[in-house]
Amino acid sequence: MNQKRGKRKKKSKSTLAKAADKHVLYEASVQSAEAYIELLNKIYKGIRKKKLRTIREDFCGTARLCYEWVKADKKIETWGVDFDSEVLEWGKTNHAPVVGDAAERVHLLCEDVRTAQTPEVDALIAFNFSYYIFKQRDELLSYFRTTLNNLNDRGVLFMDLMAGPKSYDDDYEEREIDDEVTFDGNEVPPFTYVWEQDKFNQLTHDMKCYIHFEFEDGSKLKKAFSYDWRIWTPMEIRDLLLEAGYSEVDFYLQGWDDEEDDTDDNFVKRIEYNELDAWFGYVVGIK
Ligand SMILES: C[S@@+](CC[C@H](N)C(=O)[O-])C[C@H]1O[C@@H](n2cnc3c(N)ncnc32)[C@H](O)[C@@H]1O
Repeated sequence: MNQKRGKRKKKSKSTLAKAADKHVLYEASVQSAEAYIELLNKIYKGIRKKKLRTIREDFCGTARLCYEWVKADKKIETWGVDFDSEVLEWGKTNHAPVVGDAAERVHLLCEDVRTAQTPEVDALIAFNFSYYIFKQRDELLSYFRTTLNNLNDRGVLFMDLMAGPKSYDDDYEEREIDDEVTFDGNEVPPFTYVWEQDKFNQLTHDMKCYIHFEFEDGSKLKKAFSYDWRIWTPMEIRDLLLEAGYSEVDFYLQGWDDEEDDTDDNFVKRIEYNELDAWFGYVVGIK
């Protein structure tokens, strides 16, 4: 007998994770464009006694910083470079309408940062540790030489770095994000940002890292972003930048606020540091 057995249609449950846009969550939890702009303007002015005018952001992702900068200052022109067309397109679609005509001063290049041609700029920025993808010494040195060639005579390179004993280890950190808005002013529903450092290799400093997002209904976006990095130490970075031809390399690091029991958000130039178990800061290369 031909028995046809019915199968119930699976209803896909709508969850906060399914409704979420990972780029919105990333911008809300990882980036602080306004704070970056204030800090970089201050450091650049301190070094060059002039205002920043032209900026190239390597590994720009959604290029939020490029758009924020032209919105904040009508004399600024930015170039964003990323080889992922999907993320660049997302940035253009979501950010360009917010800044109106200023979008003409944002140039996005879907190219490899090692070969992308742009005019020489005042500042070249590579954030969120993106240069850690270059794991071989020669690769990183060659990238640093490229950054130098993309800067004009007043040029300054800005990159972030992470260090401290707990950065050189597996780690898992959660942060509640509950008071953020998108670039166009829409409220971002509360979520938990999870940073996972997995399989840190003490010998090579290779590390796999993930960003997960978790929501109030229990749903999750696991491994929304994955990274395969070598965690270069501050002195390795400094030595390679000097070898690449930078004339000076400085570290801007924040202190600890005992009253707040938190970092003080005051990034100042330091030549000695023993404040925290795990920290991030900025490395500044002067052409
Ligand atoms: C960690 S995200 C950084 C996003 C942004 N810069 C930030 O600060 O949050 C790294 C980005 O680098 C891009 N990327 C990685 N290697 C690249 C390369 N060789 N050339 C251009 N883009 C690259 C990826 O597509 C990704 O969007």
